Amino acid sequence: SRPVKIAPSILSADFARLGDEVRAITEAGADYVHVDVMDGHFVPNLTIGPLVVKALRAYSDLPFDVHLMIQPVDPFVEAFAEAGADIISFHPEAGPHPHRTVQLIKSLGKKAGLVLNPATPVEAVEYLLGDIDLILVMSVNPGFGGQGFISSQLDKIARLRRMIDDSGREIELEVDGGINTRTAPQAIAAGADVLVAGTATFAGGPTAYGANIRTLRGD
Ligand code: DX5
Ligand code: ZN
Repeated sequence: SRPVKIAPSILSADFARLGDEVRAITEAGADYVHVDVMDGHFVPNLTIGPLVVKALRAYSDLPFDVHLMIQPVDPFVEAFAEAGADIISFHPEAGPHPHRTVQLIKSLGKKAGLVLNPATPVEAVEYLLGDIDLILVMSVNPGFGGQGFISSQLDKIARLRRMIDDSGREIELEVDGGINTRTAPQAIAAGADVLVAGTATFAGGPTAYGANIRTLRGD
């Protein structure tokens, strides 16, 4: 079976000690650091900008998986690339030209991801499959941590798994929102490669992170 990666969402970390939290999940065996960037406009919450990403870069050698929930996207891509993002994902609804945004991310030497909201059909990725490195399926409506997993997204994950395998390309399939010990196995069975987990990673504080991550991965 496929090795599963865990990407803790630092949205659920202690923001007063964010550098230490990023170091702690790194030492606890996380695969990516998932950074949720919200603009109070595309989604109803405000979080992290490029200055914070840059400040956190020194605390981990893991890939920074930056999830942009901002509109417009293009004016901020370079700032996040320079701040130390490795994967930059965006929502196709957030700009008029998703293909152009993918090219912009790739031109900066970064991996490009497309994010599908719960109501966004799989067809949104069809003509980008040749260019993208990652597809992120939202299993909650973006904006907040701690929401419940929307089960209809399991079918979408399975359909995307088949589209990716048929494409023959190396595209990671990531799932974000409501991942816990009950839903992680469901997402993995449907074909996910990477699980984002905020609440479930950070529950119990730093001494629990290692066990939380291993349990979600199914180790
Ligand atoms: C929601 C974010 C998620 C969120 C996940 O907009 O994209 O990454 O933080 O949090 P949990 O794992 O608590 O659902
Ligand atoms: Zn996210």
